[in-house]
Amino acid sequence: MKIDFQETTKDLATRIDIHSKFGARDIDAWMIDLIKLQPGNVILDVGCGSGKQCFSYYDNLHGNAKITGGDVSEDLLNQARVEDKKRNSGMEFVYLDFNKKFPFANNLYDFVSCCFAIYYAENVPFTISEMHRVTQPGGRLFTTGPMPENKKVFYDIIREATGKQIPLMPGSSRYSSEFLSTIKSLYSKVEVHIFENPLTFESVEPYMAYTRASMSEDRHLWSSFFQSKDDFEKIMDQITAVAKKRLDQEGKLVMTKVVGGFLATK
Ligand SMILES: C[S@@+](CC[C@H](N)C(=O)[O-])C[C@H]1O[C@@H](n2cnc3c(N)ncnc32)[C@H](O)[C@@H]1O
Repeated sequence: MKIDFQETTKDLATRIDIHSKFGARDIDAWMIDLIKLQPGNVILDVGCGSGKQCFSYYDNLHGNAKITGGDVSEDLLNQARVEDKKRNSGMEFVYLDFNKKFPFANNLYDFVSCCFAIYYAENVPFTISEMHRVTQPGGRLFTTGPMPENKKVFYDIIREATGKQIPLMPGSSRYSSEFLSTIKSLYSKVEVHIFENPLTFESVEPYMAYTRASMSEDRHLWSSFFQSKDDFEKIMDQITAVAKKRLDQEGKLVMTKVVGGFLATK
């Protein structure tokens, strides 16, 4: 699957902010509870973005760990480096492309994670075998991604507003099928955990901020929706009208994130 994807710093930050303000649950706390990191762990976070998970691991282990984050976006890596410097946490943030051999030796890491990013890999068996290669025997991989029932309201509103078919999402269309079966084929043990987080919106503005940060043209995932530059604003207006109508009828909009956490042992 050819993936034309470049996350923008602003869109990612907007979505993270909306999750923390409108979500009922904290996904970082769920993850930390599940993965049970050990002091001294050597950790790699792949597709680390601006370092959200790396900083959460660092805080959980009170700095007693060697943590590396890898990402293809220099922009996001630089954000992570700035935060790292501010905290004086001594983590490393390096360029890494899912689609190329990882710049690390075999059997190096106790724990490898990939949160909301793995599905941008073009060659699934290649990327997962790279994660497997750099993990030490007995070490673990943890991935998160959207299950097929993720964000139903979000897609329903877009469908109702535009009458268009939702493009195939690289995440929810492949994560619980292709990715899970590849992980199962390479690792000795795999646990599947589900995290459900309802985001409740009582006004249309933050809901539309989330929609804009998800459908922004920079991400290319929605390019079939936008033939010209004006189309983006036209479609945002149509979606706003449907979201407002539902808010008036129901008093709130509840968009539930349904996330799969796959915890695998090498
Ligand atoms: C939705 S963000 C998640 C970032 C971070 N894990 C988090 O949860 O905040 C997806 C990340 O995958 C990265 N990504 C996309 N394609 C990639 C590739 N080919 N190799 C490495 N990272 C990639 C993006 O740059 C982005 O940082």
